[in-house]
Amino acid sequence: MDKGSPKAILLKDYAAPAWWIETVDLSFDLRDGGTLVTSRLGVRRNLDVVRAPLVLDGQELELVSVTVGDRPLGPDDYAITPDHLTIPDLPGDQVAIEIVTRIHPEKNTALEGLYKSSGNYCTQCEAEGFRKITYFQDRPDVMAKYRVRVEGDRAAYPVLLSNGNLVDQGDAGDGRHWALWEDPWPKPCYLFALVAGNLVHIEDRFRTRSGRDVTLRIYVEPGNEDKCAHAMESLIKSMKWDEDVYGLEYDLDIFNIVAVGDFNMGAMENKSLNVFNTKYILARPDTATDTDFLGIEAVVAHEYFHNWTGNRVTCRDWFQLSLKEGLTVFRDQQFSADMNSAPVKRIQDVTRLRQVQFAEDAGPTAHPVRPDSYIEINNFYTPTVYEKGAEVLRMYHTLLGAAGYRRGIDLYFARHDGQAVTTDDFLAAMRDANPDAGVDWEQFRRWYAQAGTPGVSGEGSYDPATHTYRLTLRQFLAPTPGQPVKLPMLIPVSLGLVGPDGKDQALTLAGEDSATAGTRVLALNAAEQSFTFTEVPAPPVPSLFRGFSAPIKLSFDYSDADLTFLMANDSDPFNRWEAGQTLASRLLLGLVADRAAGRDMAVPKGFIDAMGATLSRASEDPAFASLALTLPSENYLGQLMEVIDVDGIHAARNLVRAAIGRTHRDALLAAYRANAEQGEFSVSPDAIGRRALKNAALAYLLAADDADGKALALAQYRTATGMTDVITALALIADSDMPERADALATFAAKWKDEALVMDKWFMIQATSSRPDTLANVTALLSHPGFNIRNPNKVYSLVGGFTGNAVAFHAADGSGYEFLADRVIELNKLNPQVASRMAKSFARWRKYDGERQAAAKVALERVAHTPDLSRDVYEIIARSLE
Ligand code: ARG
Ligand code: ZN
Repeated sequence: MDKGSPKAILLKDYAAPAWWIETVDLSFDLRDGGTLVTSRLGVRRNLDVVRAPLVLDGQELELVSVTVGDRPLGPDDYAITPDHLTIPDLPGDQVAIEIVTRIHPEKNTALEGLYKSSGNYCTQCEAEGFRKITYFQDRPDVMAKYRVRVEGDRAAYPVLLSNGNLVDQGDAGDGRHWALWEDPWPKPCYLFALVAGNLVHIEDRFRTRSGRDVTLRIYVEPGNEDKCAHAMESLIKSMKWDEDVYGLEYDLDIFNIVAVGDFNMGAMENKSLNVFNTKYILARPDTATDTDFLGIEAVVAHEYFHNWTGNRVTCRDWFQLSLKEGLTVFRDQQFSADMNSAPVKRIQDVTRLRQVQFAEDAGPTAHPVRPDSYIEINNFYTPTVYEKGAEVLRMYHTLLGAAGYRRGIDLYFARHDGQAVTTDDFLAAMRDANPDAGVDWEQFRRWYAQAGTPGVSGEGSYDPATHTYRLTLRQFLAPTPGQPVKLPMLIPVSLGLVGPDGKDQALTLAGEDSATAGTRVLALNAAEQSFTFTEVPAPPVPSLFRGFSAPIKLSFDYSDADLTFLMANDSDPFNRWEAGQTLASRLLLGLVADRAAGRDMAVPKGFIDAMGATLSRASEDPAFASLALTLPSENYLGQLMEVIDVDGIHAARNLVRAAIGRTHRDALLAAYRANAEQGEFSVSPDAIGRRALKNAALAYLLAADDADGKALALAQYRTATGMTDVITALALIADSDMPERADALATFAAKWKDEALVMDKWFMIQATSSRPDTLANVTALLSHPGFNIRNPNKVYSLVGGFTGNAVAFHAADGSGYEFLADRVIELNKLNPQVASRMAKSFARWRKYDGERQAAAKVALERVAHTPDLSRDVYEIIARSLE
């Protein structure tokens, strides 16, 4: 922060480019010690805007030569700065330019642009990595057709890939070879990709509904061929689903995926050459957990779905990121819901939304789904742009219904295929395709523009004389950084009225004809609104925001008895789960308050009984039961407090967990045994659900320090063959004082030392342990031979695991903050994106007590005063300190 603050980019400054680039002919001469990149551009003046020079973006490039037409330019013919190459006075309106640059992928630790992972070349260009490969207008509204020639050593890099179709290949002499790729679809440069390496592949085939045969390949490092089957199956399912549900078909004859071990994010949707973090491809039952299998299915689908929502129709500028990400996350959520259990998927997605997005919305880095300013765009690949963005898409779907939503999607593609557009364009398509929907679209647009999570409160009253039920709802949105004043949102409320018999009653609003019983969607569009239902025979309990119909925080005046009733009777599974969570949160926060006031914490018997009832019904739907039995996380409970009482939350939650484990010991043991592995291993939703229930039961037994539970955990660790069971047992052992602890951790590491993804789990479970020696262990693990700070997955497991560990990271003495500051400073030089992601853990420091705040501030300021702070880290730290 010493050399003047980096400048913010503003949405309102958007202007179309003065030049279009229509064709790109790239040639890569890959060599250790310097890769030569030759770029031939076909540029055309944009006659719609005022004449201006051609300004190309470029960073960390060595310029070798520039030629315009056939005239080589001298240094006086252009201007060069660390970020730009400007060519004034281009002759005519249509020009050919050749630019030769040298780059050093082997020294690239930021993993952005062209870099090496385990000796193989690969690229990551989104958002602005292409400018580290060659000079170019690195902005998504510049779309061009690419031809790419890749040349490299044949023995070291037998596989040479880029986007589109392989059109030619040959020998280059000197032990070298080349391949020529051509992508017929115009694309922005962030979708460019190149891979050169020693890779093997598995292959399959998909016939599209119009009869196109597509070759599908997944490339991995030799030795990993046996871990690709699930990813391939997921790809084929995604292609079929997108045809069936969205009417969208793949548009080339080949679709390639490459998995690399060093990758900043999850994966990348480069046209026909997706590049993935190995974490989202490689899986075998003995190496990957159920969560990994489901994550692979979701991310493979996500990247494939981008082929239409992102690639065929892309973003005009990066403020529109949610145009493709919110939509594509919603699509992958729908897909996973269809492939597995829809209620379970919805509960998992909402849990994650609350955990990470609500936290972001309530802190100093809060921003709208469509931000209006940024310093470093990589900082905006956030839960708000992705997950809240997906909620916005879900609200279109809720308000318009499946058919209306699909009409909007069809119109969006009819209008915009091949274009770079905005979220306003998307909204206009939804609106124009549904002229009779009765939606106030200007108000709906506020979901893109206003940051923060709306709160909704309310109450209901029943009049037995007139058989009417009056429901009053109020909404409130607190100021967020830069947005002091907020306007009321259009909030879809999907609701039911549950009668005393547990059945849904009819939902007839005053003045309407009698309605049928079930669920209906109302629009809450004012600060306060009342809805009067007539013909309600008996006092109902309202079931509000069924399926979590809007990303809001509800506080409704339910009694504990109402919540217990909904837990047992609501026809909406999400709200059955939700009622239990609300009840649990209420109870846990009560205990935290007791502890803070020096009172004894006494666990109410009613809640323990309700959990017993859930357990006794568990065999009906084990997956759902495992979620219903899980208490709200420490992180989520913290969000519900004015000042987060880290130790109080931990103590209260553990007390309740132990009480459940003790009281229901026999039922838990029975549930464990009833769901123990039987028959062949499978990742069917049913098998995953039974494992989840079994392991939830085991965790409760250990929370109660039960001797049989400990014996079961040890036996499970030693004999289980699937990674879900092995790692769950090991995590429970690692979090305990069991004498077998050290030995169990050691045997695991010895067995899996060569499997990087499995070792990531080993680092993670130690980093998330609530034992008092966790920071010491984590610090020691930084020097473990399996750890490498240059590998993002390792950092996310060990450092990210630790920052997610509330009691350890927020230790009152500030040791956790000091540790994180050291890591952020170390990573800042190596990989700014990873550094910045880690730095975000500081963001909510003002939510803690004075002692912790003081320690956090010292750590934040130490990072702030680090020389050569990247824009990425600067932006996060500066906002946190504001
Ligand atoms: N578009 C990718 C996805 O959501 C994410 C790439 C983000 N990369 C980055 N460096 N910000 O699938
Ligand atoms: Zn995406």
